[in-house]
Amino acid sequence: MSATAQKKAPMPTDIRARKGDTPLVSLTAYTTPMAQLMDAHCDFVLVGDSVGMVLHGLPSTLEVTMEMMILHGQAVSRGLSRAMMVIDMPFGSYEQSPEQAFDSAARLMRETSAGAVKLEGGQHMAPTIDFLVKRGIPVMAHIGLTPQSINTLGGYTVQGRGPQADNLMQDAKDVAEAGAFAVVLEKVPEGLADRITAQIGIPTIGIGASAGCDGQILVVDDMLGLFTAFKAKFVKRYAHLGEAGEAAIAAYAREVRARRFPGPEHVFADEAPKPKAGA
Ligand code: KIV
Repeated sequence: MSATAQKKAPMPTDIRARKGDTPLVSLTAYTTPMAQLMDAHCDFVLVGDSVGMVLHGLPSTLEVTMEMMILHGQAVSRGLSRAMMVIDMPFGSYEQSPEQAFDSAARLMRETSAGAVKLEGGQHMAPTIDFLVKRGIPVMAHIGLTPQSINTLGGYTVQGRGPQADNLMQDAKDVAEAGAFAVVLEKVPEGLADRITAQIGIPTIGIGASAGCDGQILVVDDMLGLFTAFKAKFVKRYAHLGEAGEAAIAAYAREVRARRFPGPEHVFADEAPKPKAGA
């Protein structure tokens, strides 16, 4: 494909315009090679704070820092040429005030070239979303199960069942009204996710929500079977790379112990090969 014919990375406004269209496709990424694998297939790639649990072995996302997000954001950015990059604002970097959120979001975008930030929270974060958007920071909202709040939510539980439904609907309406260009719905019952999708004017991105959402996102290590510490109901494993990787490592260990690796094709002769005549 010529450079001029190459597809341009979508902007947050393009993602917003996809409301009700073909479903938006998204995955998380934390490294350059993984970003390269998904660049041609995803509309946007999220540098999620799930990086803390998935790559660093942390017990939750609460321990993730700005420095970790920036390092992984820079790595992912180097692997993308056509998908938009969204980066998570880590716990403690935005909740205190809109001004604190602006400083953190501007730093994340400046140092990683992300096209947008994502933050968790509904009605109470709407004034912050409004403040950021009015100052040039595109915001993706995240409501329902918000993993940075597990200690107040009481764990990784489904959100919005029964009497909680109206409150979650209000969260969705408020973040849309505040100017978010899309909203992640995590662990929201299917019927409620469909009603939210029908009632707000921005795309809903489901993770454990509904096939009727305007898009879907999964943690890439979950769907590739690389992260196996636990498996949420909403995860579909499209591959079992963890098992394949462990089998390969075991084969390598056996061959090293039996002196079958390295083979003749992997070692170097004492004498350098003679240059070919005429070369
Ligand atoms: O951090 C993350 O990976 C996320 C999603 C999967 C939505 O926030």
